[in-house]
Amino acid sequence: MRIVELEQRSGEERFERTLRPTSLEEYIGQEHIKNNLHIFIQAAKKRGEPLEHLLFFGPPGLGKTTLATIIANEMESNIRTISSPMLEKSGDLAAILTNLEPGDILFIDEIHRLKPAIEEVLYSAMEDFRLDIVVGSGPAAQTIKIDLPPFTLIGATTRAGMLSNPLRDRFGITFRLQFYTIGELEKILFRAGKKLGVELTPEGAQEIARRSRGTPRIALRLLRRVRDFAQVEGDGKIDLQIAKRALEALGIDRHGFDTQDIRLLQLLVEAKKPIGLSTLSALLNEDEGTIEEVIEPFLIANGYVEKTPRGRVATAKAHQLFGSTLSPTLF
Ligand code: ADE
Repeated sequence: MRIVELEQRSGEERFERTLRPTSLEEYIGQEHIKNNLHIFIQAAKKRGEPLEHLLFFGPPGLGKTTLATIIANEMESNIRTISSPMLEKSGDLAAILTNLEPGDILFIDEIHRLKPAIEEVLYSAMEDFRLDIVVGSGPAAQTIKIDLPPFTLIGATTRAGMLSNPLRDRFGITFRLQFYTIGELEKILFRAGKKLGVELTPEGAQEIARRSRGTPRIALRLLRRVRDFAQVEGDGKIDLQIAKRALEALGIDRHGFDTQDIRLLQLLVEAKKPIGLSTLSALLNEDEGTIEEVIEPFLIANGYVEKTPRGRVATAKAHQLFGSTLSPTLF
């Protein structure tokens, strides 16, 4: 498999990438997606066809890119990775599409951020493996059609609601990624620990997993930081004591909440009545879409917030957590 990266990557992304599983078998969690993918991949291979276009959506850090890479591996295909903001004009996408080889996978991250003119290029490319390029304008305008090799587009988005209908309809398969259980995160941490040569006790792994917001990317980031503490202040082994000490020193909340989670919960607990999305957005100074698709899903999945027709409300669990005095006892 050839991986063509068209993106600059940070240290954290590189770290994540070196630990990434390369097969469905190695991948921990998302059982429903794995089981389905296994069937679809076998079927496509038997028919000698590329996999249908596929859309992953869900909050950041849950494994959308990892799954795309695994699919390429299992299909024995090349994968090209791009992020929508890198595409400035439709010609940028056309150049990438015309350079694909039969069976290649094109992974477009943040696909909800494609500019409309660029998105339009995708319609015929996805549906008919053909590029329709308009040259010239007015009465002299002409459409040039260019055949493309059969390929698979894998789109990833945190904002499924922001995808246009024509684009969404062109994906044959859509998967929503779920938050990971603490047990799954523990397994991911043990696997990473083994690869990095870091010893973890079950209690140490559980402590990190509990504070990871159901998200492997966060778990691996915390592992990296706790490892520093273990190496400097201990004997390198991550046990409960060192994990607790490191996470507290780092100011990581014991429920895995980040600052925006805490602010949102505090607002809802203090309000004692439903708050609408637009009000929350103004109060938190946060984009509505980010609240709906990045912040809220974890809080809802874990029973701290409920959506009602009149707005968002804090559950009894959230009230209990913040106490009747409303002072957070989070650390
Ligand atoms: N590393 C990050 N996410 C993973 C997962 N879901 N399974 C195994 N290792 C991982």
